[in-house]
Amino acid sequence: MAVSAGIAAYKVPELVRALVREGHAVRCVLTPNATRFVSPLVLETLTGHPAGHQLFAGQAAVPSEIDHIALADWADLCVVAPATADLLARLRAGMADDLVSATLLATRAPLLVAPAMNVNMWEHPATRENLEVLVGRGVRTVGPESGELACGWEGQGRMSEPAEIAAAVALALGSEAMRGETVLVTAGGTREPIDTVRAIANRSSGRMGFAVAAEAARRGARVVLVAGSTSLPTPPGVERIDVGSALEMRDAVLAALPDATVVVKAAAVADFRPASPQEHKIKKETLPEGESLHLELVPNPDILAELCRLTRESGAQRVIVGFAAESHDVVAAACRKIARKGCDLLVANDVSRSDAGFDVDTNAVHFVSPDGEVEELPLLSKQEVAVQLLDRVAKLRDGHR
Ligand code: PMT
Repeated sequence: MAVSAGIAAYKVPELVRALVREGHAVRCVLTPNATRFVSPLVLETLTGHPAGHQLFAGQAAVPSEIDHIALADWADLCVVAPATADLLARLRAGMADDLVSATLLATRAPLLVAPAMNVNMWEHPATRENLEVLVGRGVRTVGPESGELACGWEGQGRMSEPAEIAAAVALALGSEAMRGETVLVTAGGTREPIDTVRAIANRSSGRMGFAVAAEAARRGARVVLVAGSTSLPTPPGVERIDVGSALEMRDAVLAALPDATVVVKAAAVADFRPASPQEHKIKKETLPEGESLHLELVPNPDILAELCRLTRESGAQRVIVGFAAESHDVVAAACRKIARKGCDLLVANDVSRSDAGFDVDTNAVHFVSPDGEVEELPLLSKQEVAVQLLDRVAKLRDGHR
C-alpha cells in the first residue's frame, strides 16, 4: 500500500484494517508529506510491519529492510491510496526519487490507484491525460467519487470508501472461480410511467442484486448488471445498463441473454403498467370536481418465464435463478412459482420481516429447487446471501459440464 499526501490519507488505517481482516498481508510505504496526514506508527501497528517513508536508510525507527526493490518484488498488488494528482503525474513520468515512486517503478505487480484531489485538479487536462496514459499501461482505478470535498468544493475528487477499495483489491487479485462465465444480473425496481412526471414504483433498493453482481465480479466473471431504479454506485468491474420500465428491462435482458451463462433476476419487476401513459402531466383541474382518476393497468411480460422458455428452446447450457418476494406461506408460494417460471433455482425472501427483503442490508431466504428441495438460510447480510447463492450456482454449472 502506497500512501501519498492527501487529506484522504486519514481513511488509510481503516482500509488497511479491512484488508488485514480479509487475510491479506499488507505493507505500507508513504511519501514524506503523507506522514503529515497519517502516522507511520498507526500503519506499522495495524500491519505488523515497518512503514517506510524514506528512500535511503537512516530512519531511526525503520531499519534498512525497507528496501524498495525487495518490497516491489514481494507485492502481488500495489494499491495507491490516496493517489494525489502529483503522484499520478510522477507515476506517468516514471519518477523514482522517493520510496513510494521508486517502489512503484520497480514493481511488476499490478497497480490499483484510488485518486483523491480537488475537483479542478481532477478535471485538469494534465490529470486526465496522466490517468489515460496510466490506464493504457494497465493501471486499474477505483473512484474518485463525487460529493463534498475536504477543500470545501463540491464535485468529483473524494477518495472511494475503504470498503469499495477493498472490493477493488479483491477484484484485482482476482478469484478464478467464475472466470469465463458471463453473469447477467437484474436489480432494483422498475418504474411504470403514468405520465411525464408520475410513475408506479416499488421499494426495491437494488442492494440484493448489486451484491450478487459484485460477488460475481469478485469471482472473475464478466458481469452485466441491468439496473432499475436505485441510487447505488456500480460495483467495481461490472458493466451496467440502466433501465426504467419493465419493458425496457425486458429489452436490455433479451439483448444480453445470448452471452449469459448465468442469469440472476433479483429485480422487482412490476406485474402491471398503466395502459396508456400520458405524454403530458395529468392536471387534476381537467377532472370533474370530486371525480377519481381511473388508471387501466395491463400486464407486463414475465421476463423470467420468457428467459427460461428461450433457454429451454435454444438448448443453451445456462443457469437461471429467480427471486421471489413472498409475505406469507413463503415456501409453498415459492414452490408454485418455480414450477410456473421454470428456473433452475428460486431464492424466496420473506418480505413480511422488517430485517429481510426490500430496502434493508440483510435478508432471510430459502433456496428452492425445481424438485421441491428447500434449504433455509439464517438471517445474513445481502453480501453473504450473494456468496451462498453463487456457490449454489457453481454446483448447478458443474452439473451442466
Ligand atoms: O432491492 P432490495 O431492496 O435489496 O430488495 C431485494 C428484493 C426483495 C427486491 C429481491 O430480493 C427480490 O425478491 N426480488 C424479486 C422481487 C419480485 O419481483 O418478486 P416476484 O415474486 O414478483 O417475481 C418473481 C421473479 O420473477 C423475480 O425474479 C422477478 O425478477 C421476475 N419477474 C417478475 C415479474 C415480471 N413481470 N417479470 C419478471 O421477470
